[in-house]
Parts: sequence; C-alpha cells; structure tokens
Amino acid sequence: MDHIRIRGGNPLNGVIRIGGAKNAALPLMTACLLTDEALTLSNLPHLADITTLANLLIQHGVDINMEGENGGHEGRTLSLSAHNITSTVAPYDLVRKMRATALVLGPLVARFGQARVSLPGGCAIGARPIDLHIKGLQELGAKIELEGGYVNARCNGRLTGAEIVFPFTSVGATENLMMAATLADGETRLINAAREPEVIDLANCLVAMGAQIDGIGSDTLVIQGVERLGGTSHRVIADRIEAGTYAMAVAVTGGEVQLVGANLEHLGAVSETLRAAGLILEETDTGISARRENDRLTGVDVMTDPYPGFPTDMQAQFMALMATVNGASMVTETIFENRFMHVPELTRMGANINLHGGSAMIRGVPKLTGAPVMATDLRASVSLVLAGLAADGDTIVNRVYHLDRGYERLEEKLAACGAEVERIKGD
Ligand code: UD1
Repeated sequence: MDHIRIRGGNPLNGVIRIGGAKNAALPLMTACLLTDEALTLSNLPHLADITTLANLLIQHGVDINMEGENGGHEGRTLSLSAHNITSTVAPYDLVRKMRATALVLGPLVARFGQARVSLPGGCAIGARPIDLHIKGLQELGAKIELEGGYVNARCNGRLTGAEIVFPFTSVGATENLMMAATLADGETRLINAAREPEVIDLANCLVAMGAQIDGIGSDTLVIQGVERLGGTSHRVIADRIEAGTYAMAVAVTGGEVQLVGANLEHLGAVSETLRAAGLILEETDTGISARRENDRLTGVDVMTDPYPGFPTDMQAQFMALMATVNGASMVTETIFENRFMHVPELTRMGANINLHGGSAMIRGVPKLTGAPVMATDLRASVSLVLAGLAADGDTIVNRVYHLDRGYERLEEKLAACGAEVERIKGD
C-alpha cells in the first residue's frame, strides 16, 4: 500500500487550484437517473469516490462518457445518460464502499416506481443510518420493506407530494428526497432541510433540468412535482472542504497561498474561525488568498454544526492546527458520535489533547514531532498530513487510500508550494 512521507517545517508559498466538490458531484451524478436525457457535469474531481459511484451507475445501465481529457487539472467532464436503465438494484458490494451510493434510492423510485438498495451499514465515524431517507420516501407514498440488508421501495405510478419535517438536519436525506419530489405528483415541503452549498448546487442543477423548487438556500424547500425532467449541462462548485483544508495547512506552516477557484462565502463559519485564530483570508479575483498574521496562531473554540456552522468534515484538520497554536481550544463534535480517531495519532506526534465525551481540549505545543501514523477515515488522514507539515522530522501517513477518496493530487499540490512531501508506492 502507498504511504505519504512528509518532512515538516517548510512554509507553503504558491498557488493551489481547488477542484470540484466531491460532495456536490456525488448527488449530481445520481440526478442523471431522473431523466432519459443526458446530464453533462463539468469540473468533476478525479477521486476514488467518483469512480465508485460511476461504477454503480454503469451497473444500473447508465451510459457514461468522458468528454475531452485535460490531464485532470481543470476537472473532468462526464456525460451521463440514463435512457436505458437495466437494473434498479444497488448491490451491497458497491454500496458498502460509500454511503453516498444510497442517493440512487430517491431518483430510482421516483422515475421507475421501484428500487432495491443495500443498506450502507456503519462506517468508521459512526452508525450513520438512512432512516430519514426511508421515512421521507414513505411519506411520499412509497411502500418500503427492509429485507436481507436491503431497502425494497415501490410505488404504483408516481410518488405523491407531502410535507416532510426533518427532526434534525441531514444533507443526504434532503438531497435524496428533493430529487424524489421533483417527479412526484403535487407539492412537497421539506422542512428543516440542509442548506449546505452542495445541496444548493444540486437544487440549481435540478431546476436547470426542469424541476420547480422554491426556497433554495433556505431551510424550507418547496417542490412542485413535474411529469418529466430533461438533460442539462452543469458545472460543479469548488470544494469548500478542500479549500478550507489548504487554508488550514497555511495556518499550520506559514507562507502565503492562493486558493484558485475557491469561494470564500462557501467557507461559512470556517473563515470567521480561522480569522479569529490569526489567519488572513481575503477574496481575490481568482479565489481566496491565505496567510498568517503572526508567527503563531491562537486557540479558538469550535463546535461542529450543519452549514453555515463549522463543518464536521473540517474538525480533524482544525484539531491538528489547534495542536500547534498558542493557548488552548475546545473542539466539540455534534454531528457524528465517533469522529475523534485522529486524536491518538496526533497525540503520538506530541499533541496535548484530552477527550471528554464529544469534546476535545487541546493545549497547543511549541512543536510536534514526526511519526508513522494512520487513520481510518478521509478527514482524519488529512489532519495527520497537516500535523506532519508542522512537525520536526519525518511523518509517514499510512492507508493513503483514504486520502485518495477525497483529495486529488494532494502531495503534488503541497509539493508545488514548497512542502517536502512525496508518495511512496507500496505493493
Ligand atoms: C454528508 C457528507 C459528509 C458530511 C455530512 C455532514 C456527502 C456525500 N457526505 O454526509 O461528508 O460529513 O454530510 O455534513 O455529502 N442521520 C440519521 N439518519 C439519517 C441520515 C442521517 O440519523 O437518515 C444522522 C447521521 O448519522 C449524522 C447526521 O444525521 O449523525 C448528519 O448526517 P448527514 O447530514 O445525513 O450526512 P451525510 O449526508 O451522510
């Protein structure tokens, strides 16, 4: 297996192009199931998760063609056509690899009146059930049975619009049910819907496909079902988590980096938090510039929350940063119950972190030291890369396949800005 080796201590200076958002791209790809016309998506990142979903869609009978090839540097363009769906079954083998595959459920039931989708099961960061997706589909009139680890969903004719009140915010359930509701008979109201930029991107694409959605960007989405949707071309928004991660890398190392293509507004609470810690973030003509105000940043408390709050997907990276600042900070995780696996690894690098339930108290230390480390999920892995950039000596990050799920050419992007980082090919 590949490793990443980092020799810490270099400031980052240069330009990093931010890719298309993985978490926007995945639901957008499943939206192709809603129409028999082609959906063309540009600025898709070149990541393992995108390939996993493409394989699932191909297995349903979707025709996927890559348009042009520009070396992956400006994102990819895929044209997806679901004019000849041969299977409405999403098998365990593919679904277990990635939870976002459950997003085929809503579109399949809405257009074909049936779907059989494996339950995704647990993952490293917690149980992560899809009960809200299932309950919402029932409210839209689908008959659901759980059998042999699968969700069997059916409806006679079209789904019917309904008012669905989410007890708490779920990005995936909002996306799945918004897609299903576009083809339902009548009006659907999604109350307490997620407002993440990725949800907005999906809604905008659905509208371009002919859907009628009001309240985009708010916590109440009102969808008037239509009889059919058509194809369109849509450019995927920039990845705010990738942008935030590299902004935190600059906060850890010093230097100045231009994050080309990034959208400052999409950073939500991350920009306020990083500014409070002492990072200067400015909007530029091409994206965002990031540099440190002083040599060492200061501790700031954060609590993860749905957008526009501080994202759980940036909690691990922020903790690596806080491990190196002046003073203490308290990081509280409210979205996932088991998202502190990076803590023992950061501690092995000299970080001073104490866990109390869902909160971590981090006391900044003057220097971390390099070590061999590994993590069990994507964001935890990248937090170890950030710690490695700050540490004295060499850090070897194992299980690089986690990074490859969500960060395109991570080592190349960092190395181009002066970091000593390389991928070591394994067996
Ligand atoms: C998406 C993101 C993921 C991010 C998460 C929270 C994608 C592909 N992934 O995941 O990177 O970390 O949002 O911002 O966009 N829950 C239930 N029942 C459900 C659905 C969710 O209990 O039916 C719980 C989850 O276990 C979790 C919380 O709700 O505790 C929020 O999860 P959700 O917003 O649904 O996350 P995902 O859409 O899976």
